Amino acid sequence: MGSVARRWAELQEGRGIPPGILAQAPAPPWEHDPSYFTPPAVPADTPSRRAGLALLGAGGTVLDVGAGGGDACLALTGAATHVTANDRQADMLELFAAEATARGVPFRTVLGRWPDVAEQAGTADVVVSHHVLHNVVDLPPFVTALTAAARRGVVVEMLDEHPMAWLDGLWVTFHGLHRPPPATTDDAVAVLRELGIAPRVRRWERRTPPKQDPAWVTRRLCLPPDREPDVAAALAATPPRPRHAATLTWDAGS
Ligand SMILES: C[S@@+](CC[C@H](N)C(=O)[O-])C[C@H]1O[C@@H](n2cnc3c(N)ncnc32)[C@H](O)[C@@H]1O
Repeated sequence: MGSVARRWAELQEGRGIPPGILAQAPAPPWEHDPSYFTPPAVPADTPSRRAGLALLGAGGTVLDVGAGGGDACLALTGAATHVTANDRQADMLELFAAEATARGVPFRTVLGRWPDVAEQAGTADVVVSHHVLHNVVDLPPFVTALTAAARRGVVVEMLDEHPMAWLDGLWVTFHGLHRPPPATTDDAVAVLRELGIAPRVRRWERRTPPKQDPAWVTRRLCLPPDREPDVAAALAATPPRPRHAATLTWDAGS
């Protein structure tokens, strides 16, 4: 692992929850709730969608890594002739399958952790992976497998900093836990460059209102449901969740 990738891994490991706090969590704090990831009926016109459509041109196949409910790949409906959706959560793939079926998009699903299931997923004209990089500690094998799976190019969308960094103040309030600085888009781009990939980087602001639901934040903070009113009060005094996003695009063979 190169020195920049090692720095990314260290920053990501810093987001871990100390075992003593995790042991008291009444529900798994990091598991994603599929209900938050239902794709909109009309896809948002974002730089990531435009980048995917440009790569697809008149049409082509898509592989979505960490697909969730399929927000990234189903935004390409019409140009995508077939979608392969990968996720490590079976309930996400169930949601994706229902959404793809409703839209009449031909698809298959691949359950498992990327890049472990890369061979099973195979190749596609365009590979998309939105809001997954901040979940990854060892970035080089993840990114290298994305590139290897793409015949035309890769589109990655990510928030400018770790999506949970806006809660760092609440970790201090409720647990006295001081978090190290979060990984950022710049850190991810530096890892790509270390791998010999020169991505095109487009920064923009997300329009979708970010989730700030007290029940969800209570679970994230490993607190029992009866602490929700305290969390709601602390959230009211917390600056709004940032919306800065970036689209990273690179060509196959990079
Ligand atoms: C924040 S959600 C984003 C979902 C979707 N891409 C979107 O933009 O709405 C992250 C998703 O990536 C999945 N995930 C995280 N790491 C993964 C990995 N290494 N392999 C496969 N799926 C992964 C999670 O289960 C979750 O469904």
